[in-house]
Amino acid sequence: MSKTIVALDFSNKEEVIKFLEQFDKPIYVKIGMELTYACGLDIVKTIKEMGHQIFLDLKLHDIPNTVKGGMKNLAKLGVDMTNVHCSGGITMMKAAVEGLKEGAKDGQRPLCIGVTQLTSTSQKAMNDELGISGSVIDCVIHYAKNAKEAGLDGVVCSVHEAKAIHEACGEDFLTVTPGIRLASDSVDDQKRVATPQLAKEEGCDYIVVGRSITKAENPKMVFDQIETIMEG
Ligand code: C5P
Repeated sequence: MSKTIVALDFSNKEEVIKFLEQFDKPIYVKIGMELTYACGLDIVKTIKEMGHQIFLDLKLHDIPNTVKGGMKNLAKLGVDMTNVHCSGGITMMKAAVEGLKEGAKDGQRPLCIGVTQLTSTSQKAMNDELGISGSVIDCVIHYAKNAKEAGLDGVVCSVHEAKAIHEACGEDFLTVTPGIRLASDSVDDQKRVATPQLAKEEGCDYIVVGRSITKAENPKMVFDQIETIMEG
């Protein structure tokens, strides 16, 4: 199974289909709010019918009852992975898992992953803007422990936190890491970035790669290079 999840941050269906047609076999893709809000949830069905595995990244964060209802409906789409914000709290995260179980097709619920701190959040922004004191790593580990207590399957974090999360929550607890950049890439809006090589060394279970692949001159070639590192 692929360890590289390609973030399909496109704004129209034609563009995303054209992009996916470059790949000769099914890959693991992430459908986020940009594509969903442009095309509606029908895009999930279209991409699933092409054979790809899907991480539906809508980062739910609301009162527990609303999250439960939302997740019940998302589970019916038959996606492989979806997520919530850990900052919604343990009761909300538990409700997310309940909703996924209720809506799951054939009793097989999608994986539920908690977003700890966005990889675009710096230490300074977390302290000064979000009003969370202490270090990013302490906050991320605290959120990961909450996610585990709530029954989630893992968390979204940066590469730099993956090892500590595995130590705190166990090797089976999944770490899904965006903020991936090749050494030659620009960082863009991301702050806590790392290369695929470091992600591999730190034991990340999945890496999420967007612009490094989607904006490359030859996306398939960059994807294959990254996969070779991750599988190596
Ligand atoms: O283009 P880039 O590789 O920076 O894209 C990263 C993707 O991962 C985006 O779709 C973004 O929404 C998502 N993401 C993130 N940080 C998180 C959670 C999700 O960058 N903590």
